Amino acid sequence: MKYVLLGNLSPEWAKKQSERVGKAKAKLDKLGIKIESIHYTQGHYDFVDIVDAPVIAAGGIGDARGVIAALALGAEAVQMGTVFLACEESGASLLHRQALRGKKAGHTALTKGFTGRLARGIYNRLLEELNQEGTAILPYPLQRGLVRNLAIPAEAAGRADLVPMWAGQSASLSACTNVSAFLTSLVKEVSEIAEPIIQWGASRRQKQILK
Ligand SMILES: Cc1cc2nc3c(=O)[nH]c(=O)nc-3n(C[C@H](O)[C@H](O)[C@H](O)COP(=O)(O)O)c2cc1C
Repeated sequence: MKYVLLGNLSPEWAKKQSERVGKAKAKLDKLGIKIESIHYTQGHYDFVDIVDAPVIAAGGIGDARGVIAALALGAEAVQMGTVFLACEESGASLLHRQALRGKKAGHTALTKGFTGRLARGIYNRLLEELNQEGTAILPYPLQRGLVRNLAIPAEAAGRADLVPMWAGQSASLSACTNVSAFLTSLVKEVSEIAEPIIQWGASRRQKQILK
């Protein structure tokens, strides 16, 4: 395996890649080699056409539709995170799991306030206040320790508004309670139609790479 891609493509990452591609193109131009087109677009998978290596799609995939879509777009596999957090077997707290399965999971935002590093969470009072302009955030991992001091008693008091609730953009798709039942049903749904899609996606991608 030469290369594995994980995670969503952020606009910042895409910009950096474009700059790198720009520089590489200039060098290739000098050698008389032309790259026709490269797209790194968040939420799209155009890049799998030009990556001659297995790709794992991740970010915002929460059900069989997402898995099938990623496979059709050329990914070899998917990584799902947030939807598993809602399962009883996950290490997430009861409040966190309930919130993931609730209506508020549809509203998430980015924050450095939970740990000092950028993360996405369900939008609650804690996130809102930590994101207010002028709020000082300690460097990682100190901020995490600070927030934990608040989160532990908040959790015990059932205060979902004051607990950090990490969640990806697929959070509103979280329906899992029992991981075994969730996985069995996911695998069944995907298996019913995956094979021809995987073959179609792979052959299409191969053609693109050979172009
Ligand atoms: C338990 C857990 C721990 C995670 N830890 C990290 C991490 O340390 N760094 C990071 O960039 N993302 C982390 N993530 C986010 C994953 O990269 C993300 O869940 C994954 O790409 C799948 O996206 P999804 O959550 O939208 O399905 C974590 C996710 C989970 C569920």
